[in-house]
Parts: sequence; C-alpha cells; structure tokens
Amino acid sequence: MSERIVILTGAGVSAESGLGTFRDKDGLWTKYDLRDVATPEGFARNPAFVLEFYGARRGNAGKAKPNPAHFALAKLEKEFPGEVLIVTQNIDKLHEAAGAVNVIHMHGIMDGDLCNNCGWRGPTGAPLTVESICAACGTKGQLRPDVVWFGEMPYHMGEIGRALEACDTFVSIGTSGEVYPAAGFVAMAREVGAHTVELNLEPSSGDYMFTERYYGPASEVVPKWVDALLS
Ligand code: OAD
Repeated sequence: MSERIVILTGAGVSAESGLGTFRDKDGLWTKYDLRDVATPEGFARNPAFVLEFYGARRGNAGKAKPNPAHFALAKLEKEFPGEVLIVTQNIDKLHEAAGAVNVIHMHGIMDGDLCNNCGWRGPTGAPLTVESICAACGTKGQLRPDVVWFGEMPYHMGEIGRALEACDTFVSIGTSGEVYPAAGFVAMAREVGAHTVELNLEPSSGDYMFTERYYGPASEVVPKWVDALLS
C-alpha cells in the first residue's frame, strides 16, 4: 500500500509571496474586526464595505507569485510515490500557480462569487458592488465573494474527513491552529495513527500534537522537509 500524505496549509505559506497573515503582528485581523468583514452578519450590515475589502484582497492576490514553499509542495505531489493531498485554508491560488493539482480550498477561493439569494457559484469575472446582479436569479446586491466566513460550514468537509481517516502522514504548514475545523485535523489524524509534522514560523497553539516539528520561514523549512522526504 502506498503512503498517503495530507497537507494542511494556512496563511503562513503565502506570507513570503506578500500576502498578509491574519493573526501575526500587522495581520489582517489586527487592522479589521473580523465580525465586520468575515461574517454573514457583517455583510448584511454593510455589504459595500465587505465588497471593498475583498476587492482589495483580490487585487493583491492577483499580483502575488508562488514562493519556494508552494513550488516544493508541487514537486512533492509530482515526485512522491504515494498520494499527496493539499487542503488549504487560503483563498489565493498560489499552490495551483506553482503546479499543484490535488488541492482542496476549504475556505473557498478569492476569485469565486456566490449569490446569497439562490446559491449560484462561479466567477462573474467582474468586481462585485452592491449594484451587481446575479445572472442566475436576477437579484441585486446579493452577490458576495465565494469565501467561507465565520459561522459558515467550510467546503468539502466529507472529502477532507475521508482523506484524514486514510492518511499515514499529516502535515500542517503556516497555520496558527486557531480556527476550527482545520485546527482539529491533527487530532483526527492522530486518532488513526498518522505521523504528524508541523512546519511553521513558530510553534502553533497545538504544537504538542505534532511528533516532528521544524520552525522557520516556509520558503526555507518546506523545501528542506520535502527534499529530505524525497531523498
Ligand atoms: P494565521 O494568521 O492565524 O496564522 C498564520 C501562521 O503562519 C502563524 O502561526 C505564523 O507564525 C505563521 N507564519 C507567518 N509567516 C510565516 C512564514 N513566512 N513561514 C511560515 N509560517 C509563517 O492564519 P491561518 O492559520 O491561515 O479564515 O488562519 C486560519 C483562518 O483564519 C484563515 O483561513 C481565515 C482566518 O480568519 C477565514 O477567513 C474564514
């Protein structure tokens, strides 16, 4: 039986591509109240503000390039004799830009749109405003970014759960381990006896759950770990 690796990534893997993290010093949640920009209630209160916030993030993400950590994970996916699945909390598409194919976006994607009224999902290809009209149901002002907000269920949880139940190794990269359900994946992997690895700038809040740990910038620790695994 070939080995199966599930890799969870967070904002730290894209930090060196110039995309801000959330909870570090200068992180997005030190500048914005997440209740205003990352909850359904915040959107209902002030949709224009929320759409402007994500419009700016889309602009930044569009300019960002993958860094050595993204490339190393794509190389692992290509060269590892077993199966590699990347489950990312990130809404950027830098794993794919580096060449990774087996990627699940559990918190949605930056350039996706979702209609709050009829559930239509897909890119409209245009910046969203409160005047935007859903092409599927004709409702005005209910189109929003297709990203998972606090209080909403992440995408693909069934598929992720099955992958965790079957994995031999679980790796957590660049995530603070503060947000569930992703923060609970390491416990699920441990329950099935998987080997657990943490690669992060600093120990996360659940660091004790990992048997192997390497700390430093993702652009350094991730390629080093991948090369050791492939050698
Ligand atoms: P956080 O901002 O909570 O954590 C980022 C982690 O990356 C921290 O542990 C940092 O130490 C680490 N880090 C920073 N720079 C790094 C670097 N160069 N190399 C390696 N690690 C680095 O971000 P997430 O854990 O991704 O969800 O946050 C999880 C979720 O909370 C996000 O998906 C988002 C946010 O609210 C929603 O918006 C629903």
